[in-house]
Amino acid sequence: MNELNILGIESSCDETSVSVVKNGREVLSNVIHSQIDIHKEYGGVVPEIASRCHTEVINQIMKQALKEANLSLKEIDAVSVAYGPGLVGALLVGVSYAKALSYAIKKPLIGVNHIEGHIAANYITHKELEPPFLCLIISGGHTHLVKVNDYTNFEILGKTRDDAIGEAFDKVARVIGLGYPGGPKVDKLAKEGEPNIILPKTHFENLDFSFSGIKTAILNLYHKNPDLNKADLCISFEKTATEMLLTNTLKAAKEYGMDKIAICGGVSANSYIRQSFLDLEKDGYRVYYPDIKLCTDNAAMIGAVGYYKYLKKEFSDLTLNAVPNLKI
Ligand code: KG4
Ligand code: ZN
Repeated sequence: MNELNILGIESSCDETSVSVVKNGREVLSNVIHSQIDIHKEYGGVVPEIASRCHTEVINQIMKQALKEANLSLKEIDAVSVAYGPGLVGALLVGVSYAKALSYAIKKPLIGVNHIEGHIAANYITHKELEPPFLCLIISGGHTHLVKVNDYTNFEILGKTRDDAIGEAFDKVARVIGLGYPGGPKVDKLAKEGEPNIILPKTHFENLDFSFSGIKTAILNLYHKNPDLNKADLCISFEKTATEMLLTNTLKAAKEYGMDKIAICGGVSANSYIRQSFLDLEKDGYRVYYPDIKLCTDNAAMIGAVGYYKYLKKEFSDLTLNAVPNLKI
């Protein structure tokens, strides 16, 4: 097979990103324009503002991605785009742009599930990683435990019944006054604390998760005790939430006989979570997580999935639409 250069486009939330990925694993460019500074003022992502920002920058970001890859449009073999899940208006910007581009350059269009993109971020960082493996997707919108059977075939083993873990990080940060986005700030402050606050854990018979209980417990605790040490609260939260993640992951690994465990998604950038999962290697598991830059939303992961769908000729046509609640 010749070299395949896939152009990836990501606009599902507050990052506009365009990448060029060669053969699914080699990132030739990955330009990310973050809107965090704009949304920070509002304490969270404002959907209408996100869509408008995507529209304003996407063409420039695409040109920049080609330039950094040192390629012309003629050398692009397909255009892949995240079409869900995410904010409908934000997704539509990427989807419309991708459709127009694929039509103009007469190359296939490939619709990609954003969550499958997060999983594929691991293929970029770990060139040797191949399915099957177990993958825990932990982000602002998702908490899924998935069995990756093949590059394009997945089985959901468990997921959150309420809040995504990233939402819990962001909410805790907001309540104790750390600001938005909260995950990285909790991560930093936690390093100065002691995990001495007991918080509730939720477990189910199956492999589902729940993070609303721990989130509410922290909110109540802090409102009753505003003098509580914030660093202690952050590390106690991280430790308890990580225990919940580890319990289900190990249960699934044993049940399905998997010894390769990957984590991905924005929250997999968390240093406590990374270390805790890495410690599983002492018990004989192989553990994978993406480079920090590939944990949060980016288009390289969309280009990586695009490659594997290209190999299976899983192309989309120009009726491709944004699907805000797209399932894996
Ligand atoms: O994957 P992502 O960029 O977007 C979604 O698809 O949701 O994830 C964003 C989430 C946010 O909740 C953010 O606070 C969290 O990832 N996050 C972190 C860290 N970096 C980003 N959470 C904990 N620790 C971090 N270092
Ligand atoms: Zn994401």
